[in-house]
Amino acid sequence: MLLGACSSVSVSPREKICFNDNWSFSLGDNPKASETDFDDEEWRVLNLPHDWAIEGDFSKDNPSGTGGGALPGGTGWYRKTFIPSNEDSDKIIRIDFDGIYMNSEVFINGQSLGKRPYGYISFGYDITPYLKWNEKNVIAVRVDNSEQPNSRWYSGCGIYRNVWLTKTSPVHVDEWGTYVTTSEISNDNATLNIVTTVQNSGNKNETVTLKSILNDMDGSVVAETESSVSVVAGQKSDISHTVNISSPELWDIENPYLYSLVTEIIKDGKCIDRYTTITGVRDFKFDAEKGFILNGKQTKINGVCMHHDLGCLGAAVNTRAIERQLQILKEMGCNGIRCSHNPPAPELLDLCDKMGFIVMDEAFDMWRKKKTSHDYARYFNEWHEKDLRDFILRDRNHPSIFVWSIGNEVLEQWSDAKADTLSLEEANLILNFGHSEDMLAKDGETSINSLLTKKLADFVRELDPTRPITAGCNEPNPGNHLFKSGTLDIIGYNYHNANIPDVPKNFPGKPFIITESNSALMTRGYYRMPSNEMFIWPERWDKPFYDKSFSCSSYDNCHAPWGNTHEENIKLVRNNDFISGQYIWTGFDYIGEPTPYGWPARSSYFGIVDLAGFPKDVYYLYQAEWTNKQVLHLFPHWNWTEGQEIDMWCYYNNADKVELFINGESQGIRSKDEDNLHVVWRVKFIPGTVKVVARKNGNIIAEKEIHTAGTPHKIRLTPDRDIITADGKDLSFVTVEVLDKDNNLCHLSENLINFEVKGNAFIAGVDNGCQTSMERFKDNKRKAFNGKCLVVLQNNGEKGTATLTANSNGLESSTIEIKSK
Ligand code: GAL
Repeated sequence: MLLGACSSVSVSPREKICFNDNWSFSLGDNPKASETDFDDEEWRVLNLPHDWAIEGDFSKDNPSGTGGGALPGGTGWYRKTFIPSNEDSDKIIRIDFDGIYMNSEVFINGQSLGKRPYGYISFGYDITPYLKWNEKNVIAVRVDNSEQPNSRWYSGCGIYRNVWLTKTSPVHVDEWGTYVTTSEISNDNATLNIVTTVQNSGNKNETVTLKSILNDMDGSVVAETESSVSVVAGQKSDISHTVNISSPELWDIENPYLYSLVTEIIKDGKCIDRYTTITGVRDFKFDAEKGFILNGKQTKINGVCMHHDLGCLGAAVNTRAIERQLQILKEMGCNGIRCSHNPPAPELLDLCDKMGFIVMDEAFDMWRKKKTSHDYARYFNEWHEKDLRDFILRDRNHPSIFVWSIGNEVLEQWSDAKADTLSLEEANLILNFGHSEDMLAKDGETSINSLLTKKLADFVRELDPTRPITAGCNEPNPGNHLFKSGTLDIIGYNYHNANIPDVPKNFPGKPFIITESNSALMTRGYYRMPSNEMFIWPERWDKPFYDKSFSCSSYDNCHAPWGNTHEENIKLVRNNDFISGQYIWTGFDYIGEPTPYGWPARSSYFGIVDLAGFPKDVYYLYQAEWTNKQVLHLFPHWNWTEGQEIDMWCYYNNADKVELFINGESQGIRSKDEDNLHVVWRVKFIPGTVKVVARKNGNIIAEKEIHTAGTPHKIRLTPDRDIITADGKDLSFVTVEVLDKDNNLCHLSENLINFEVKGNAFIAGVDNGCQTSMERFKDNKRKAFNGKCLVVLQNNGEKGTATLTANSNGLESSTIEIKSK
């Protein structure tokens, strides 16, 4: 029998309001800015998410250093005034921040609600007791990113993720208050186990009905159940429900099928809360011999590591920008994302659920031992439990998450770090469990660092026993304190290919994954000839510091001494069943860490895709090896000095043989073999056309040609979408190309392009993927780099048409229209 009937109520009794608009912002500190009556008239008014660093100028004097992107830090304040209506005075009101970088303190009406140092954690406060109904209330947020460096990559500065105001009844589902898991999965059936935390913030005990309703993707109810629940005033209560799904549709990387669980609380026949949790049914295991098995099928994780910045948009979250990154990666055949090395934006995980990515969700880049002078290590002792708990509670319902990582290359791992001298008192404080001097003294076996590993893993396991735990380690031997703790479910290596064959012997019975691989440098078009070197730093600019341990001997052989080539790792993973897969460093270039270069380089070279989102040549290697799409990619360009020797490379699939022609003359037939996932022709440059023809069983299946480009003549604008949503957030990414009069891309052009936008859009950012460009990301002009640049248009909240015109001295201009609906 159903105890209540509120599923038909169309207006949810819970309101989750996007609280991003109309904040006032000021860069600099002012202790009085928390006060209600502080005069912020002169402050800049903006909509969140906001990253003040991306608006700044690059400078070698910025304390973030090139590692942090050489952009400014500092302290900033945000203020927002609002008038809560009396009608809500019987509600509980929360403010939630998806992420503030970093060291935030939130105030309401001058009263501090709390501080939160970790810049990547989501957190919130109950503001009900402080609200003044029908009057002006002020939320003020102080963000302190002044002590730098505190990150090994670009962090961004400010309230860079979304902010929410949530109104609920006093009896409601707690924040992150559902935990949904599946068990006994077969083709016929799956069991959905639901634990719901009901919070009673009121002052009297309540008895309510709790309903769990599972909907499929069409919105049809597939299962439901309910029970009566008593919750004491001011307390929480955990309620378990179980429902069966017959003939469940499984979540998979090809078909990421999602169910939605609607939780309702019913009091006196009225629905007083409705809360939705997205879930998926998938069966998986990591096996020591067979690697990763998803829904009974051995599946290689062909993943990439990603930092959180969105190129020229900086750290400021934009769902479409994340979606675009994921679409580009999915097209390449990528099926996994490692959120390196911190909790990501919730929107990323939602998209991974929807798009079918196997996510490794990572908590920290450091524990107690710091990597940069002012990083999270100094907060670890006090905050790690709370941060870890909130991280798992927020993320544990995402079907796309398959592994937790409790840390990346934490310095506690090293076997020679065992002589860590902690007092018993300090050890017990950090480790939070009692143990004796004897235990601590027992050398490596019970080193503090192994105990800490165990503590963190146990902590995670208690909150989510359904997923394995790993860590990205770079000491590969069993003496590593993290491995020695015996608590990691999966052995995870960053790099160290030479040690990988020994994993089954060194870690018997343990599954294995390459948490990070390659760190290979790639370009989008610049190669130095004739030494067949890929040399990313254009010679025509001053050569900065260059670490010679990064030897670059061919297009695909330019990698960190700790890394390896792309081809090596594709083969390594493919040929070894016990390797569950790899997460390549990295999918996209990111701001900061321009290793091996120093200033004026300010963004990374490791991406398979550049910072602007343009695929580099190696992208097509992956597409050829990881997908069934027809791939035939020939590179580099065909603009050299007459007679110069050039290596022409080709990535392809589905064909038996490929043949190269220069101006119609065959240069020979080639095919890939076990060792080489590319073919190469050494040829002499003659202006004209270089063409590659792919044949299967003697039939031509694909052809590609590159023409010697003439002088730059015109501009081509190609939007990724010419119709966007009029929501003030949606984006159109417009590729700008410099062409000769015959529409050939001028690969070496660097023309300065000026943009003008009219109508209901504005320029959210410009980029060209060049790691050494000192041009601003927020501007209405950009130089082309290797013939291309990017302008990102953002809808301004209104419907209609925007016109983008691109002009450049001496070039034919170009205009396109973007509609917002
Ligand atoms: C790894 C590290 C990454 C990145 C990479 C560059 O060791 O985990 O964060 O720094 O090196 O090669």
